[in-house]
Amino acid sequence: MPMESIEHLNCRYLLQAPRETGLPETLSPAAALGVRAFHRQLPGYRPTPLVHLERLARAWGLGDVFVKDESPRFGLQAFKVLGGSYAIAQLVCRKLGRPLSEVTYAQLVSEEVRRQVGQITLATATDGNHGRGVAWAAERLGQKSVIFMPRGAVPARVASIRAHGAEVVVTDLNYDDAIRLACREAEKNGWYMVQDTAWEGYTEIPTWIMQGYLTMCAETVDQLRAADSYPTHIFVQAGVGALAGAVIGYFAQVYREPRPRFIIMEPANAACVFASAAAGDGRTHAVTGDLDTIMVGLACGVVNPLSWEILRDLPCCYTSLDDFVAANGMRILANPLADDKPVESGESGAVGLGLMDLLANDPAWRELKEALEIGPQSTLVCFSTEGATDPVNYREVIWHGKYPHRG
Ligand SMILES: Cc1ncc(COP(=O)(O)O)c(C=O)c1O
Repeated sequence: MPMESIEHLNCRYLLQAPRETGLPETLSPAAALGVRAFHRQLPGYRPTPLVHLERLARAWGLGDVFVKDESPRFGLQAFKVLGGSYAIAQLVCRKLGRPLSEVTYAQLVSEEVRRQVGQITLATATDGNHGRGVAWAAERLGQKSVIFMPRGAVPARVASIRAHGAEVVVTDLNYDDAIRLACREAEKNGWYMVQDTAWEGYTEIPTWIMQGYLTMCAETVDQLRAADSYPTHIFVQAGVGALAGAVIGYFAQVYREPRPRFIIMEPANAACVFASAAAGDGRTHAVTGDLDTIMVGLACGVVNPLSWEILRDLPCCYTSLDDFVAANGMRILANPLADDKPVESGESGAVGLGLMDLLANDPAWRELKEALEIGPQSTLVCFSTEGATDPVNYREVIWHGKYPHRG
């Protein structure tokens, strides 16, 4: 049961005592081995950096701060391609009637496999990052993709998807309705939906997508171990919550004793995990409307049911945050202290660091900081899941101070 809720400057948090829950084998360290073995074969694969912000941690009176920087991932500026590429590979192997573990990537992209599988079309709805990953993966396999985008899609994001040969349809709908349209079109035309969320009767592909994210998680664990660090607090943002489900489902199996504290961030106008946790009835609750936020990757109103049990039971804190928090995170990551490294972090990537800033420096958040036992012994980890995918807004935030700090 949620214990506490406050409201401050369009930001809210909710604390709860985490409960034990069954953790799925699909998100286990053993499952991650197979996923990583696949991604390692992709041309251009390299673990993304785990940036150690030592000076920042010292300035904030914390033990350590680590940021997983997904901006260089396969040259696509976001972690999302990990999910789409893995799911599409599984789908093609299903059509071949062979397990992915027995098919190399070189075989998957060969003309022979393309002939065996035939021409297929992969469809999805996206704010940008997931669709770019699907288009990239389809292009490599010599297959087609049709990508539906919600209203207000940023031109740079549309262009980066078209650059991979995809047909892009910019709709007049919000994200959740764009998914419904994509489904109808896919059914009508015999396309394969590769969606990064699940619903009744559609769980296999979204499970593969969540598993795809384990490559990022497993890299992070390796990098933390190499730095001789044990995470005490893991900050993860949620749109539909597939990412958060994968991160928490995996990290809770790797770090059992003591278990890190998991903290969820969402935009105030699209906080469906928060709303579901706050209802306290164990069920998910959708958020509707425009879902308007600069964190467009997180502008989702319906929780992924595959993640829900994990997101219901394991986090100790849910937050619903104003856009200025993400903008502050972007500015801080772009302008590091002394010899800390800069991180190019987009709106949906930077909100974790923005929340850390509030906790470290804003008296209004002191009570939460104390409740979470964040201090000099803590090692905080967050995931900067995208780079400057909207370069115009990125510059306005970083250079011209758009969405200024409030507090
Ligand atoms: C950059 C970025 N970060 C985080 C997320 C959130 O992932 P999920 O919708 O699985 O919660 C997204 C989703 O598109 C994203 O694009």
